[in-house]
Amino acid sequence: MLNLFCSVLLLLLLSVSGKVKSPNYKEYCVIGAGPGGLQMAYFLHNAARNYIVFEKADKAGSFYEIYPIHQKLISINKRYTDRTNKEFNFRHDWNSLVSHDESLKMTKYTNEFFPPADTLVQYLNDFATKLNLKIQYNSTMHDVMKRDDKLFQMWDQHDNAYTCKYVIMATGIAKPNIPLIPGYELIEGYENLSTNLSQFMNQNVLVIGRGNAGHETAQYIYGVTNHVHMMSRSRNKLAWATHYVGHVRAVNNALLDTYHFNSLD
Ligand SMILES: Cc1cc2nc3c(=O)[nH]c(=O)nc-3n(C[C@H](O)[C@H](O)[C@H](O)COP(=O)(O)OP(=O)(O)OC[C@H]3O[C@@H](n4cnc5c(N)ncnc54)[C@H](O)[C@@H]3O)c2cc1C
Ligand SMILES: *[C@@H]1O[C@H](CO)[C@@H](O)[C@H](O)[C@H]1NC(C)=O
Ligand SMILES: *[C@@H]1O[C@H](CO)[C@@H](O)[C@H](O)[C@H]1NC(C)=O
Ligand SMILES: *[C@@H]1O[C@H](CO)[C@@H](O)[C@H](O)[C@H]1NC(C)=O
Repeated sequence: MLNLFCSVLLLLLLSVSGKVKSPNYKEYCVIGAGPGGLQMAYFLHNAARNYIVFEKADKAGSFYEIYPIHQKLISINKRYTDRTNKEFNFRHDWNSLVSHDESLKMTKYTNEFFPPADTLVQYLNDFATKLNLKIQYNSTMHDVMKRDDKLFQMWDQHDNAYTCKYVIMATGIAKPNIPLIPGYELIEGYENLSTNLSQFMNQNVLVIGRGNAGHETAQYIYGVTNHVHMMSRSRNKLAWATHYVGHVRAVNNALLDTYHFNSLD
């Protein structure tokens, strides 16, 4: 009787571990190696968890290779504070991720107050490499599903399957906001806007949208255009008035000068 019980138990154990192991089992699967996925990986790594990060690009932080389109960050790189308190200083550094490695601070990567976006890409990849984070690049995951046994399963672009107990989506939130404007198909979206100034030279340009992306674009081109006209569904929201960092920042609002000077914009 005991023997029978033992073999039933053994069978049960086998079937549980069999499921758990197949295929490519990790306890934690993080999808996306932007700042969010990297920070998550750091904490999983430090807690010695069985985890993997899947990233579709061939490097970390690839968002910043393209965006912001004109490649100047609006997250400030505050290097001096007149304080020695690390916690205080870290709160004023808007770019660095949390880690125990003092060399991994954006303040040590650039002197620029508004850093070039490619410096952040370098920083994020150093963060991944120096901290030995487990990231599988060139892996675009699709069809994340939950199986009857409550494990998650997903596939990469080569249809290799992976199973995980927990899935953390860190794939970002940015996607184009396509307005219902007749003729929109004739318009260039910010997502793949040209940075070639010759294409705006001597042109009358209408920018739809008056957030940071719109203003950043207007500021980039206003030196070569006839005039820039901006339109949106609401009034300009200026960060200096609202105190919200996502509203139009002073560093992006030069067009307001030429507007107030009746200088055609
Ligand atoms: C125009 C614009 C300008 C911005 N400027 C700034 C700025 O100056 N400073 C600042 O601090 N913030 C800025 N932000 C905000 C910033 O982009 C986000 O807060 C930040 O990138 C979010 O990090 P994340 O890790 O959540 O996502 P992301 O950085 O978007 O990373 C998501 C990752 O997931 C990967 N991925 C997506 N789908 C899959 C998949 N199916 N399989 C595998 N991998 C996948 C992507 O390749 C990417 O690497 C800006 C945002 C926008 C839209
Ligand atoms: C990812 O793919 C690119 C191009 O397809 C290749 O050059 C690179 O070595 C790959 N990187 C990894 C980590 O597999
Ligand atoms: C972005 O560029 C691609 C390729 O040039 C084009 O097919 C697509 O329509 C463009 N998207 C927008 C919204 O302009
Ligand atoms: C920029 O645009 C101009 C005008 O369309 C074109 O002649 C030139 O080749 C472009 N330059 C680059 C680097 O693409």
